Amino acid sequence: MTEELPEYDLTLYPDPLLRKPAEPVTSFDEGLTALAAGMLERMHASNGVGLAAPQVGLRTRVLVMNPTGEEGDDRVLVNPEILERTGAETSYEEGCLSFPGVYAEVRRPDHCKVRFFSVDGEEHEEEFTGFTSRVIQHEFDHLEGVLLVDRMSPADKVRNKHVLQDLVARYQERRKREESPA
Ligand code: CO
Repeated sequence: MTEELPEYDLTLYPDPLLRKPAEPVTSFDEGLTALAAGMLERMHASNGVGLAAPQVGLRTRVLVMNPTGEEGDDRVLVNPEILERTGAETSYEEGCLSFPGVYAEVRRPDHCKVRFFSVDGEEHEEEFTGFTSRVIQHEFDHLEGVLLVDRMSPADKVRNKHVLQDLVARYQERRKREESPA
């Protein structure tokens, strides 16, 4: 394959693009294949374990992940729907590529049952547990416009206050530069 992959930049907090719910994929075409491949490329290049389309500025219901970091374990879930969340809640320190430097304990049910489509349009139903289930739930949040900062405890908000303020300041600077090109 010599096709060129789209190169995606990360959308960082507090960009309002991250707050817009994503729209379902309706055509399972080459564009979708390229999008998924480009997202996986971005995720790996940024040392992430998961990435949702809104994080590269796209309002599309696609998430990619590789919870093990092993070659060959890349997964793409199109139009995922969480059918069930069950099992004991566990707490784990999560990070997010849209929140560099921010880490927060998030409680989530251990188990989830997900209906999704593969890039070729085949429908699947699969159950996930442990870390993989957590990654899916985190990335699924992105498709709904829900962010790590919404899941944080008040204590974690205080602990991450300066990093969050810094992200806001850097976003405002970027906006200013974009609005008044030199
Ligand atoms: Co995230």
